[in-house]
Amino acid sequence: MFITLEGPEGSGKSSQLPILADWLREQGYNVYTTREPGGTLISDQIRTILHDLENTAMHPRTEILLYLASRSQHVEEVIRPLLEKDTIVLCDRYADSTLAYQGYGHGVDIPTLKKLLDFSTGGLYPDLTILLDLNVEIGLERRKQSGGEWNRLDAYALAFHKRVREGYLTLVADEPQRWRIVDAAQSFDDVQKALREVIRAELSKN
Ligand code: TMP
Repeated sequence: MFITLEGPEGSGKSSQLPILADWLREQGYNVYTTREPGGTLISDQIRTILHDLENTAMHPRTEILLYLASRSQHVEEVIRPLLEKDTIVLCDRYADSTLAYQGYGHGVDIPTLKKLLDFSTGGLYPDLTILLDLNVEIGLERRKQSGGEWNRLDAYALAFHKRVREGYLTLVADEPQRWRIVDAAQSFDDVQKALREVIRAELSKN
């Protein structure tokens, strides 16, 4: 089974994922955790290019193609082979991040992105996707609490992250059978509990 976690930065995905994986392993499942961009040697090299602060000249189309290149390698080298061996693959971000960030966030045409996603994933999509949903203002408040100042870039980031969040909610509405929403504003333990409930329900269907 292929399960992906999506959500904004600060929603706690990356900290919840290993705990969730250990809980599944305790029940006897083979579990593999991974993340995007990254997940293979080549994909991690692409991640470094994407995250390099010196790459300010990167064109939005270049950025998209790098996310997709990283994903193609990840799918063919790691995800697809593991799924064929009956492993539960838990992935921190996947194709929906491209639709939410590049599509809804940066305004790139969604049908074009969907075609590119079909090509780069070879048509491999998750069985279940969990959105760790967080109100943008709460995320921002968390940031202010940590002592950062409010500036023009924060205002830009707020509008961008609002579009990303609305984008995620549109994706959920378009394909409700694949998505579940977990409220990431809850305590860490309550989020973990909710994630387990969702996965327990999904596994009991098989
Ligand atoms: P993270 O490792 O902290 O989740 O950061 C990854 C960043 O990359 C995050 O800002 C979301 C962004 N991203 C995209 O914009 N498009 C994508 O397809 C993926 C996988 C990530």
